[in-house]
Formats: sequence, structure tokens, C-alpha cells
Amino acid sequence: MSTVVARASRLLAGRNRGADAATVLAALPVPVILLDPENRFRLVNQAAEHFLGISAAGLSQLRLNDLIPADNPIFLLIEQVRGTEATIVDHDLNLDSPRLHKRGITVQGSPLPEEAGAVLLVMQDASAARALDRQLAFRGAARSVSGMAAILAHEVKNPLSGIRGAAQLLEASVGPADRELAELIRDEADRIRALVDRMEAFGEKPIARTAVNIHRVLEHVRKLAQSGFAAHIRFHELYDPSLPPVWANRDQLVQVVLNLVKNAAEAVTVEGVHHPEITLATGFQHGMRVAIPGSTSRLDLPLVVAVRDNGPGIPEDIRPHLFEPFVSSKSTGSGLGLSLVAKIVGDHGGLIEVDSRPGRTEFRLHLPVVTERDSDQ
Ligand SMILES: Nc1ncnc2c1ncn2[C@@H]1O[C@H](COP(=O)(O)OP(=O)(O)OP(=O)(O)O)[C@@H](O)[C@H]1O
Ligand SMILES: [Mg+2]
Repeated sequence: MSTVVARASRLLAGRNRGADAATVLAALPVPVILLDPENRFRLVNQAAEHFLGISAAGLSQLRLNDLIPADNPIFLLIEQVRGTEATIVDHDLNLDSPRLHKRGITVQGSPLPEEAGAVLLVMQDASAARALDRQLAFRGAARSVSGMAAILAHEVKNPLSGIRGAAQLLEASVGPADRELAELIRDEADRIRALVDRMEAFGEKPIARTAVNIHRVLEHVRKLAQSGFAAHIRFHELYDPSLPPVWANRDQLVQVVLNLVKNAAEAVTVEGVHHPEITLATGFQHGMRVAIPGSTSRLDLPLVVAVRDNGPGIPEDIRPHLFEPFVSSKSTGSGLGLSLVAKIVGDHGGLIEVDSRPGRTEFRLHLPVVTERDSDQ
């Protein structure tokens, strides 16, 4: 094995610096895998061990075919690399098996000129990048909603309260049959008012932040949910108690988590889900950073909050537009929940990611924690 490792290393870094190349390879944050002509794992870097969830020692006993079903398109790619001796890139591959659940992966396969049949695979999990992309795209849409919300608030709320007041007066003075109609007018006016209020939340007001304990937010939402719309659902809490506070607006975070938990509850309240469950989890994850708009510095997002459910998954046709306003698969849904979630998370400088397949849907928020500079303010 070591000869191929050395050869691959030399190839990667130029003739005389093999040892350096091996170190570089180990430290590379993208998964790199070298397969021999029989698809046995010859070499994996640390990122690949992490990606596949198996140690290098464990992998050295295995073939790629032991991890991924034979009909997966990745094998076609590998055979094409062997046949054409050219580099081939495939986007949006799903590596699904009982041990592995990776979706939307970009795989680049290259031949090793020094050993016929060996293939170097470089993997990239594009889902985070795509989620970011989508969030940036949706922000434009959210802005147009915020403009519309301002107009609605201005033009609709006043006449609406007039209609509501008139209906209330009628209620007091008409007979029972007509009273029902007057009540209907009042209720519908309330419904429009609630919708306008929700849309107003898209406004562009600066947010007031403090140090917020994320677990208090999660517990608050869980109690709210369990005393109302999620009374029939089992909750699991997997909290990391050592987490530092988030730098956030507490009420807006409650809104975010509430919307996610409400969606999760609605997802598990359908036919076919026998043991509806929602899991709330928190954790610390190094290495998630984003650019700060208008600045060259980067923002660290080490705190992760996950809301997971065992519902049927997000409908395929909705996925590309998930965070856009008015996208809904529900007959009574307004489709504003997730666009509001993404707007608030974006306003906080955070990120949102989604993984969904039948039986397991997870929304993950990546949020900034309080830094010394924040607490000085
Ligand atoms: N946990 C989930 N499981 C399955 N599908 C989901 C989940 N969360 C969201 N979705 C899908 O995404 C769509 C958009 O969600 P969003 O919260 O934006 O709107 P909504 O729930 O339909 O309406 P609203 O939140 O305004 O009442 C949903 O209609 C549903 O199809
Ligand atoms: Mg919703």
C-alpha cells in the first residue's frame, strides 16, 4: 500500500516532496479516497474517514462496493474514469445505503497515470453551499415581501379595523341568524389581520441582541408546543449543556424554533407515522464560517441547533423553493413559516441547512455565539 500512497503523494505535490504532500492530503478538509483497480480503499484522508464514518484501518479491509449498492451511479463514474483515463465530475450524487446517507454530493474522479485502474475520488458536500445559495436568492424575495407588508399594513389594517368594529356592533343588534354572519365577518377580519401581522415581521428593522441561552428558548417552545399543537408527539432533547450563549434576539429565536417545530409537528401528524417524534438537539461544531457582507472578515458559526422529525420528508417539488415565501404543500398553509425562519437566521448572520428523506427530516441552524466584542457593547 505504501508505494501507492507515496506515488499518489508525489503526484499531488511534485516529484521531490512526497512527505509534504501526504501531510497536505491528510489535512485537506475535503474527503479524498484512492481506490485500487478492485475498488479497495488504498488511501483515505481524515476528511474521508469522517465523511464515510469509518476509520482508515476499518476501510482498508473494505471495498467501496461494501458501502454503496452496486447500482449507484458512482460506479459508472469510476468505470468511465478507468475507460477514458480522464477526470470526470458528477454533481448531485446520492450515496445512500444502510450505513451512509449523503445527498447532493459532487464527486470528482481522476485516474492515476502511474497505476492503471486506480481512481482518485474527491468528494464535496454541496448541500451547505446550495442552502446558502438559496438563502441568498430568497432574501431578494423576502425583501419584496417586506415592501408589500409595509403597504398592506398601511392600506389594509385601518379599513380592516373599521370592518371588524362594524361587524361587532351588528352582532349586538341583530337576530341570531344574522349574528352568525356578523361573527363570520369578524373572524375573517381577524384572520386577515393575523396574516398582515405575520407579514409585517419581514420588515427591515434593526434587531436588538443580547446573550441568549438557546436551551431556554428550546424549552420554552417545547412547552408551548406540548401544551397545544404537539400534545400527541413525543419530544427528545439532546442538549449540550456546556454551550455558550447565542448573540441573538430572544423573541425572534423563539419564532424561528416555533416555526420549525410547528412544521415538524404537522409533518408527523399524517397517516403512516405511527410513533410521531420530534428531536431538539444542540451542539458545538468548529469550522462553519461565512463571509460578512460588505467586509473582508468571516463570521464563525459554531453553535448548531437541530430540529428533527420522523415524518415523510419534504415533497420533492417543494425542495428547490423551500425558503421562498408562499410555497406550501398544505391546504391551510400560508407558506410564510420557513421564509421568515430564513430571514431571521440571515439577519443574525447565521445559516440554515436541511436534510430530508422519508422518516427523517432535519433543519439545522448555525448561529454565532457571544464574543468579547459583543459583550463590551
Ligand atoms: N419538517 C418538515 N417535513 C416535511 N415537509 C416540510 C417540513 N417543514 C416544511 N416542509 C414543507 O415546506 C413547506 C413550506 O413550509 P412553511 O413553514 O414555509 O409553510 P407552511 O408550513 O406550509 O405554512 P405556514 O408555516 O405559513 O403555516 C410546507 O408546506 C411543507 O411542504
Ligand atoms: Mg410552517
